Amino acid sequence: MARRKKIYEGKAKIMYEGPEPGTMVQYFKDDATAFNAEKRAVIEGKGVLNNRLSEFFMTGLTQVGIPNHFIKRLNMREQLIRSVEIIPLEVIVRNFAAGSICKRLGMAEGTPMPRPIVEFCYKDDALGDPLVAEEHIIAFGWASQQDLDDMIALALRVNDFLSGVMLAVGIKLVDFKIEIGRVWENDFHRLIVADEISPDSCRLWDIETGRKLDKDVFRRDLGSLADAYTEVARRLGVLPTNVTHAPKPTLIN
Ligand code: TMP
Ligand code: ASP
Repeated sequence: MARRKKIYEGKAKIMYEGPEPGTMVQYFKDDATAFNAEKRAVIEGKGVLNNRLSEFFMTGLTQVGIPNHFIKRLNMREQLIRSVEIIPLEVIVRNFAAGSICKRLGMAEGTPMPRPIVEFCYKDDALGDPLVAEEHIIAFGWASQQDLDDMIALALRVNDFLSGVMLAVGIKLVDFKIEIGRVWENDFHRLIVADEISPDSCRLWDIETGRKLDKDVFRRDLGSLADAYTEVARRLGVLPTNVTHAPKPTLIN
């Protein structure tokens, strides 16, 4: 495919103009960042794994009727997606306490939530993506009340789907973050899941051992991030054939 015009480069992905109006190409980089990019590394193979994993999760969402931006995977690192007007909010769903909620509310890591907790953070790197209330979202016009209700419903549907998929391979979905975008049809818009769903944006713990299989491995220096993501991909049956970290075939006598 001919080189395309770059639209935007983020910390983990690059967006290029798509081949047709209303489409974009999403390229997954190997860069890992944490703590608002204070910590950085290049993890060989991460982009390839996340491209596959996001394809797997988004395709599953489509199969259960949850609208999302994924159209098709183009190659090892790129996928074709629908362009959306991104709502400047990170939508977080928590099933168990981990990360910032532990600090904020003094909860022990792993405490089950009484019900899935939906939080919103305002997407602004300079401010460190602060937690915001529904009141801010409506008053400052980032989303309408209808959008907000739809976002919560969408996030909870994604939670039910992802929790089940992960449970089936022995992984607990502790929490995750999604981004949601608007697609316009004449004067009306509807909301669809956008960005990515990958171990960069979820917390995934092995059900038996509690082993962390997500970006906390990098945030907290707990070992090889590529090994953790490879394990998630292997359990889900979505390992690409020529990733450097894929286990080598062994001869069986
Ligand atoms: P938190 O506990 O740090 O608030 O993170 C909650 C979830 O959101 C966790 O699964 C990691 C994910 N997340 C992102 O995808 N991007 C981010 O910038 C942050 C801070 C968290
Ligand atoms: N994605 C954010 C960063 O790049 C934070 C995180 O995931 O911990 O800094």
